Amino acid sequence: MASLSAPTLLTLQWVLVAITMGSIWMIEEVDGSGGIGRQHREFDYFKLALQWPGTFCQRTRHCCSSNACCRGSNAPTEFTIHGLWPDYNDGTWPACCTKSNFDEKEISTLRSALEKYWPSLSCGSPSTCHGTKGLFWAHEWEKHGTCSFPVVQDEYSYFLTTLNVYFKYNVTKVLSEAGYVPSNTEKYPLGGIITAIQNAFHASPELACSKGSVQELYLCFYKDFKPRDCAVGSNIGLEMINSKSSCPKYVSLPAYVSSGLDGVEMNSFMDA
Ligand SMILES: *[C@@H]1O[C@H](CO)[C@@H](O)[C@H](O)[C@H]1NC(C)=O
Repeated sequence: MASLSAPTLLTLQWVLVAITMGSIWMIEEVDGSGGIGRQHREFDYFKLALQWPGTFCQRTRHCCSSNACCRGSNAPTEFTIHGLWPDYNDGTWPACCTKSNFDEKEISTLRSALEKYWPSLSCGSPSTCHGTKGLFWAHEWEKHGTCSFPVVQDEYSYFLTTLNVYFKYNVTKVLSEAGYVPSNTEKYPLGGIITAIQNAFHASPELACSKGSVQELYLCFYKDFKPRDCAVGSNIGLEMINSKSSCPKYVSLPAYVSSGLDGVEMNSFMDA
């Protein structure tokens, strides 16, 4: 009598799952408690989201230890990481794909690099995938990182991979070499910024602005981390015009101003 080996059974199960789900490949991960994560189709590409501290830090009204804007002269002056987001080509994205809770211990060896290059730029605690609030990193891993399977398979790899991509594609360097340096008086042509990135990385970025200031910049990558255009199809211009966070034709790249938050010392010095 032929008996089915375990691998054959597993394969059969997958075939059944694939048939049931209309042949869409599903990401399934069994967590420690035996539960199964929500199911999502595998993502199409990665989006590296970068934050411009000069724009974010203008919003800081009170300080807290988690907000890198509050580091005074050590506050970030380059684009910092927001997250590495798995996206679909249709403009939607998967979120909260497995029940893998963020564990600070897993990234302890990356901690100083993350503090520097992937800091929170606000005092708020973002939500995790389980109705609780947590660290900025917890939010990014649980909401986005868990959906980067099978390219990235665990929390440590997610943060390390993101740092490596960030180091390889230095947007701040490209912009400053093209003359786009932080300034609280200059405005720069959006098209010039986009062209500088295109020339350097051979792919088109996307930008989001707030009140005419660059707030975020996105670089997009195929699953093998080769750069690709962020916009799908030929309507990049249209999307940016229609988008709520669209940038005007001329944008600013505000320099970080410590906005009186650590100005107490300064005032007492001047009073003396
Ligand atoms: C980006 O390039 C600038 C200028 O060369 C350099 O100072 C900075 O350390 C680089 N940033 C990263 C994250 O490598």
